[in-house]
Amino acid sequence: MEKKIRLHDKSFRMFIPNEDIEKAIDAVADRLNNDYADATDEDPVVMLCTLNGAVIFAAELLKRIQFPLVLKACKLSSYVGTSSTGVVKTEVPLPSRLEGKRVLIVEDIVDTGCTIVAMVDQLKERKAKDIRVCTLLLKKEVYKKDVKLDYVAMEIPNRFIVGFGLDYDELGRNIKDIYVLDE
Ligand code: IMP
Ligand code: MG
Repeated sequence: MEKKIRLHDKSFRMFIPNEDIEKAIDAVADRLNNDYADATDEDPVVMLCTLNGAVIFAAELLKRIQFPLVLKACKLSSYVGTSSTGVVKTEVPLPSRLEGKRVLIVEDIVDTGCTIVAMVDQLKERKAKDIRVCTLLLKKEVYKKDVKLDYVAMEIPNRFIVGFGLDYDELGRNIKDIYVLDE
């Protein structure tokens, strides 16, 4: 029988099993280990985790990353319910001292791209020397911005999903597989 869950007023069905997510993360982590192999303790990569959605993805990456890094976090939000408002609110600001640093943004999902554009703009203002984006998921049909998405673990169609850190009005983050809204 197909696995289904209910969160608030909506039902969701199984979409991406945990094993597939983990395999996609393995592949991205291999690329990161290769591309950042020259990082040193004196010049570590700054991994900037976007709260709350990217916490599980960031933790899974951390378990696999072998180069020196420091972990930072920020929180921006644009989603209410199951759609983007297009207005990005900063709830926990980005760290201030990033001048000359290599920053790797770790996102759960890129949809319209408003959030990622706002983050990259703020990192440029802070004079980070290299800014790259690593996202677990990308809604490719929706994303029309110019910011390069350097590392994309998985592409998905334009559907609302939950699980593996992603929420529907704060619920569903603790589900280990990814579920899609059942319409
Ligand atoms: P963007 O600014 O439109 O690219 O939206 C990015 C943010 O919206 C993500 O970091 C998520 O927090 C949230 N988001 C986008 N799509 C989904 C989804 O399908 N499920 C849950 N949250 C989503
Ligand atoms: Mg998010």
